[in-house]
Amino acid sequence: MDLMDKQAKKEELLKSMELGFVPDEEIRKLIRIELEKRLKWGYKPTHQQQLSQLLNLVHSLRKMKIATEMESLDSKLYEAPFSFLRIKLGSTIKESCSYFKDNESMTLDEAEIAMLDLYTERAQIKDGQSVLDLGCGLGAVTLHVAKKYKNCNVTGITNSVEQKEYIEGKCKELKLSNVKVILADITTHEMEYKFDRVFAIELIEHMKNYELLLRMISKWMKDDGLLFIEHVCHKTLAYHYEPIDEDDWFTEYIFPAGTLTLSSASLLLYFQDDVSVVDHWTLSGKHYSRSHEEWLKRIDGNIGAVKEIMKSITKSEEEAVKLVNFWRIFCMCGGELFGYKNGEEWMMSHILFKKKL
Ligand SMILES: C[S@@+](CC[C@H](N)C(=O)[O-])C[C@H]1O[C@@H](n2cnc3c(N)ncnc32)[C@H](O)[C@@H]1O
Repeated sequence: MDLMDKQAKKEELLKSMELGFVPDEEIRKLIRIELEKRLKWGYKPTHQQQLSQLLNLVHSLRKMKIATEMESLDSKLYEAPFSFLRIKLGSTIKESCSYFKDNESMTLDEAEIAMLDLYTERAQIKDGQSVLDLGCGLGAVTLHVAKKYKNCNVTGITNSVEQKEYIEGKCKELKLSNVKVILADITTHEMEYKFDRVFAIELIEHMKNYELLLRMISKWMKDDGLLFIEHVCHKTLAYHYEPIDEDDWFTEYIFPAGTLTLSSASLLLYFQDDVSVVDHWTLSGKHYSRSHEEWLKRIDGNIGAVKEIMKSITKSEEEAVKLVNFWRIFCMCGGELFGYKNGEEWMMSHILFKKKL
């Protein structure tokens, strides 16, 4: 089959999936085929080859800009309407992994809070500190810290007007006066102020040059400040999130090629120019898999309302169906990726850094 035919076949498959013609089990099977291909592509026969592959990526990232163009980040993801996000996500509207501990009966709401508590514990937050939340999304971390530690001053940075307005509205509702939200692209933002604690929760996935990123963040840390990062990772492999071959429909489906980096658990440890590691944890992918599966259940449980929301934005029956299915497939992709081999391939990494003086 030539390149054009492969491209046409891929587009046809995606269209059928988005129109709802492919059963979920078949979609999940197709996802697992792509994941298996990724592992075959990434795992090398010797450890030295594996390390060389990682180090090649480290060297190439050092030559890049902090991030690729933000405009190319698909707006379907970060500009989704709140009415939909309120249905899909739990009550803290956390757009990242939840922590289900080992508890089968834990709800999404409880698991969101459990993860937020885990962050504050691991980041060693104390009341009265100044806290910076980079890529704050809808403020899950910002609001949690501000509510739990009334004497902390919390600054969230987001690149989305809607997210800023949402958090500010929530602060009014909760009568929180210790929160400030800055609208900025953190890759170009300049700021004199220094913080006791900095959070970057699932932000660095959108970045490339970790040397420049961590240098910039270190300038926002007090001398005894700590930086807590959560990022999606594979336990061994690190790669630019780009398709493996012409048949790979999966990699580019959610995020456009080039806009993401899939780190290995240890990738950031090669970027200790301006910060040094204090502690490092990984968390089974099962937690993020279950987060995605819970999101899917909530979409399916409210499918009528979700369709109406999508219809109101797209003004077209067919486009609304495609958007609903995009989000359903997004959840299945996350469920399968992080659930692969019982959560022991793709997982979460938590790293605590201190500033290098
Ligand atoms: C996966 S979401 C996580 C949001 C939030 N930290 C949470 O846990 O709910 C990633 C966030 O990073 C933000 N983001 C990505 N690149 C950014 C940039 N260059 N500047 C500011 N925010 C950015 C996106 O808008 C999005 O809200």
